Amino acid sequence: MNILVLGNGAREHSICWAVKKSKDCNSLYCIPGNAGISDIAKCENINLDHRNELLRFCNTKNIDLVIIGPEQYLENGLSDYLKSKNIKVFGPSKKASKLETSKSFAKKFLKRNKINTANYREFSSYESAKKYVSFLKYPIVVKVDGLAAGKGVIICKNKKEAEDSISLMMKKKKFGSSGNKIIIEEFLEGYEVSYFAFFDKNSFLKLGYALDHKKAYDNDNGPNTGGMGCFLPSKKITKKIEEDIHKKILLPTSEGLKREKLVYRGILFFGLMITANGPYVIEYNVRFGDPECQTLLRNLKTDFLALIKSNIEDRLEYMNIQKDKMSVVCVVLASKGYPESFKKNKIVRNISKAQSIKGIEIFHAGTSLKKGKVISSGGRVLSITSKANSISSARKLAYRALKIINWKWGHYRSDIGQKNA
Ligand code: AMP
Ligand code: GLY
Repeated sequence: MNILVLGNGAREHSICWAVKKSKDCNSLYCIPGNAGISDIAKCENINLDHRNELLRFCNTKNIDLVIIGPEQYLENGLSDYLKSKNIKVFGPSKKASKLETSKSFAKKFLKRNKINTANYREFSSYESAKKYVSFLKYPIVVKVDGLAAGKGVIICKNKKEAEDSISLMMKKKKFGSSGNKIIIEEFLEGYEVSYFAFFDKNSFLKLGYALDHKKAYDNDNGPNTGGMGCFLPSKKITKKIEEDIHKKILLPTSEGLKREKLVYRGILFFGLMITANGPYVIEYNVRFGDPECQTLLRNLKTDFLALIKSNIEDRLEYMNIQKDKMSVVCVVLASKGYPESFKKNKIVRNISKAQSIKGIEIFHAGTSLKKGKVISSGGRVLSITSKANSISSARKLAYRALKIINWKWGHYRSDIGQKNA
């Protein structure tokens, strides 16, 4: 098959890496890709808003399958468009993507199907939202309805913070039209797990979980980011918790989708809070997580392309997933300053030396090539993944690789996988 992957993160690099290992992969392309991806795939620069150009590219290169990484393309309906042109796509329809692109849509689905989620109210009026928060017990969580690159959620400790957040979202329009509607919900106490399963028209197939570290600095200090690192497995996720996730979250989601005739084809990412009362859904995402994908794919033994093919052909019920039972850690090397402002175009050295450590696989995010050298071009720059017999051994490997890279323009957390492992 000739495969095209869309996206430019470390997630997409790991997807390309997994696809490339498949015996069915003939040519591999990526739009737009990055410096690391260009080592294993042909990277092309096509503006995806110009769909005709994308279609022409697919036809010229005889693309058999397009794998969509980021949610934005799904919200824009790229999956539906390509399908309408008879091109196979991995990535749900615009309609099914509403599970991520509208929190209001997701919350209603969860409540209708009696799946545990925080109690909430939604508001389209600034005045009513403001009135509502004067009577609440704190903390509470205020969220914009639409996509906001992981930034549209504010945990408020008191009424003042809640009013400021509502004003930021609805009056100042910090998140644009994503804040036309907001959700105000109860605060859930517990720890978070990212859970992944492939869903098709008939059934679902579990890929597994990873534990993400969303805050920028050690000990969960600093602002939220896209994810600074993750690991798997965790001793905290007992058999009982996994059973609860299956019974209380995955099954009713699958049954709800069927009952409501909402066909979901693709990977579904459950952002879960494990509370004293069991797992609750914080959010659905309609794509792989970044950096979770980088760790999950390192343990995957089943041919990734075969899995994807069975998913888009509604044959998941006949597949199973084989995985290595190893510990995997991913530490993100970000530009100094990320998630706020940071410098770009800084040379990153020693990547291949670090990559040569047994057990290490380095996936690129914000990198590009300049005169043959890798330079930084984004907030998250590299995902250093390591695979070993235990989390502590994997941690040692990853941090050894980071010492070798020794990038003075970057920062990373030193405590990935230390807690909850
Ligand atoms: P979301 O974009 O909905 O995943 O929210 C981003 C982050 O905000 C989550 O990963 C949690 O850390 C936090 N969060 C969201 N909703 C809640 C909630 N109801 N209770 C506690 N924390 C939350
Ligand atoms: N790491 C969280 C996400 O991809 O949304």
